[in-house]
Amino acid sequence: MPAEIHFKMGKINKIGVLTSGGDAPGMNAAIRAVVRTAIYHGREVIGIRQGYTGMINSDFLPLVSTSVSDILQKGGTILKSSRCEEFRTPEGRKKAYDNLKSAGIDGLVVIGGDGSFTGARLFCEEFDIPIVGVPGTIDNDIYGTDYTIGYDTALNTVIQAVDKIRDTASSLDRMFFVEVMGAEAGFIALYSGIATGAEAIIIPEVKGEGRDLKKLLFEGNRRKKSSNIIIVAEGDEDGGAFAWAEKFKKEFPDLDIRVTVLGHLQRGGSPTATDRVNASRLGSAAVEALLDDQKSVMVGLQNDEIVLVPFSKAIKLHKDVNRELLNLAGILSI
Ligand code: F6P
Repeated sequence: MPAEIHFKMGKINKIGVLTSGGDAPGMNAAIRAVVRTAIYHGREVIGIRQGYTGMINSDFLPLVSTSVSDILQKGGTILKSSRCEEFRTPEGRKKAYDNLKSAGIDGLVVIGGDGSFTGARLFCEEFDIPIVGVPGTIDNDIYGTDYTIGYDTALNTVIQAVDKIRDTASSLDRMFFVEVMGAEAGFIALYSGIATGAEAIIIPEVKGEGRDLKKLLFEGNRRKKSSNIIIVAEGDEDGGAFAWAEKFKKEFPDLDIRVTVLGHLQRGGSPTATDRVNASRLGSAAVEALLDDQKSVMVGLQNDEIVLVPFSKAIKLHKDVNRELLNLAGILSI
């Protein structure tokens, strides 16, 4: 391990780092990587607490190497987070800019989801402080990266929970509608559905026949199972697990139906190895990108390689689920 400083040329000397939006396991690993990579290159780092709210309120704290000791394995974010309404206004962003200038912060790493990047992009257009984004959300719904920080841990949390639900569902021959997070997207639902052998998966990306539960569960060569698990993405257009269960109960009054909404437990917990390693790679890459004079871009992972994706694309373009996996889920649940 090199102990000395490897000074890299570049205009930026003091880097601010913040986490914004929904927290995600692995964000701490990313913060740690930002701090230590910046120090490795001879730069100062300032932690900004509570996301954009901290920029507006000057809630800054200098971070040194030991400030990020013993955080790699922790869920949540040591910097705290927020969904900041004031940052949506030009006045709020101007206040934030003035505070960054007074603190001498000349580059920013924003760890968050597409809402956070929308704010970051505007800020970059309005002011002369470059920003590099790191995709941090359990939803995995950001265009331009195969992976977002926290997704893997959330998936594993869902899988553990659904396995437990399966035990009780089988014992009592019940049907369970399990609602998972994912905002407008079905990534968590699709992957956890395959990993738990769900009998059906309901996600917003699927329209038409693929939403016909009766067909999915009881028709064709589908055997009658003792237990049925249906994973429902929270962002589904027909409502969540309760709405689906109610509809189904009306049609099949003899079925013993229960609903479980997994909720915010999906956002917590110690990050998996994948989240720790990928978050470390992305956090470090964000600092390298800033020092290479990049701005208004997100660092992402495509085919296990670090890539830079302009905010304009990451925010605007739609990331679709893998249709082959949908097909596979159908085949494997017969
Ligand atoms: O974006 C992460 C996420 O957990 C989504 O899956 C969910 O829809 C949303 O945040 C919940 O947000 P909040 O914690 O603000 O209720």
